[in-house]
Amino acid sequence: MSKTATLKIDDQELELPVIVGSEGEKAVDVRKLRATTGYITYDEGFGNTGSCQSEITYIDGEVGILRYRGYPIEQLSEKCSFVEVAYLVIYGELPTVEQRERFSAALTEQAPLRAGMERFIQNFPRDAHPMAVLSSSLNALGAYYPNIASNNHKRDLEHFDEAAAIALSKVRTIAAHTYRVNNGLPLNYPKKDLGYSENFLHLMFSAPYDEYVATPEVAAAINFFFLLHAEHEQNCSTSIVRMVASAGANLFASAAAGVNALWGPLHGGANQAVLEMLNAIHADGDDGSKFIEAAKNGKARLMGFGHRVYKNYDPRAKIIKGSFDKALDSLGITDDSLLDIARNLEAAALSDDYFISRKLYPNVDFYSGLIMNALKIPVEMFTVMFAIGRMPGWIAQWHEVASNPKAKINRPRQIYVGPVPRDVPDVV
Ligand code: SDX
Repeated sequence: MSKTATLKIDDQELELPVIVGSEGEKAVDVRKLRATTGYITYDEGFGNTGSCQSEITYIDGEVGILRYRGYPIEQLSEKCSFVEVAYLVIYGELPTVEQRERFSAALTEQAPLRAGMERFIQNFPRDAHPMAVLSSSLNALGAYYPNIASNNHKRDLEHFDEAAAIALSKVRTIAAHTYRVNNGLPLNYPKKDLGYSENFLHLMFSAPYDEYVATPEVAAAINFFFLLHAEHEQNCSTSIVRMVASAGANLFASAAAGVNALWGPLHGGANQAVLEMLNAIHADGDDGSKFIEAAKNGKARLMGFGHRVYKNYDPRAKIIKGSFDKALDSLGITDDSLLDIARNLEAAALSDDYFISRKLYPNVDFYSGLIMNALKIPVEMFTVMFAIGRMPGWIAQWHEVASNPKAKINRPRQIYVGPVPRDVPDVV
């Protein structure tokens, strides 16, 4: 007998179905509430609202669990590459050797951009924020590949593997080209024999007569960073990807919308904001204690802390922190003043009741910015790095919407609180 919830409302008493997920999460199914009672639910910010049923990622925010397709992030980060995890997130299973080779070959084939897209990127102002260029360029892919971005989901799904490879491979090339143009540098071109992260670093940092060859440690740190960001269920930007996809839009347009949401400083833009915060604290000669007081007085926000879902340590932050010393050692970095400040902030926040009572723990962005800083990734590229890592998640979530025959266009309701009905005066 399936579980139900009883709702007493006005003179009605109705039984609402309860949906139970594979990890025991429970939801009251209110899809018939308005038709039955005339009432809607109200949940500004959607913190208590399930927008979909998904098979991709499971998060337990209270305990600090994150699993991609059932595999714990801790094991994936130790045993798999970003490309293998991207395949898992997109297709639901870890790839066989043959599947991985085919997938890698598709990513290699799709790495270069069309000449017109290169010119498109080169025509942005040199001080354009890379996220503005990235969202525009991802959207522009729909113009260069109209046959797989037709906004007819049935047709677009027939070309899904190609669209997925284009999005996952070209997001990296677009990002690197943007960095080169912003810095007045000539574009580099992908190399067939390099892995995903190694090719990205080559595209970013090779000079005309001096090819950048990533050390295994640096490539591993980038690979690790992308992997930890690959998916995170219905966060703000992924919800936008699904919302846009629900209207029938193609993968590139949906991902471009996700980039714009991720750019916000409360979301993916936090990694850039963390570095800017640490640099400001350092410039102020503060060891972090002054800043902590300002945050407790509501005069500052401790960027990289807090989360809409994790009310315990973000497991990704724990993993990044654990690998951080190894990454610094491999990069030959012994002391890092910003890292000292970060450690002071974390120690202070984890022992201070203001943060403990509000369940504010470090999130993925707190340490990721420090790793990218150590890797000499420029701060304005930090959120772009997050977007590259998150692309597999956006692709998988778009596919879940596009391939669901019962999917409906997303159209939330509202409670109107504006002016009561009135007539336009004769003389306006
Ligand atoms: C990501 O959702 C995802 O999955 C996102 C993400 C992903 O992988 O996609 O995990 C990536 O976006 C991580 C979050 C990165 N953002 C930041 O680090 C920015 C700093 N964090 C905050 O802005 C904030 O914590 C949020 C936005 C992340 C979460 O906000 P909530 O849960 O809505 O918390 P809130 O704004 O309701 O604040 C509750 C209280 C308030 O104080 P009171 O009004 O109770 O006195 O906590 C305070 C807030 O002022 N607070 C903070 C704080 N975050 C919340 N105070 C100081 N510093 C902070 N960072």
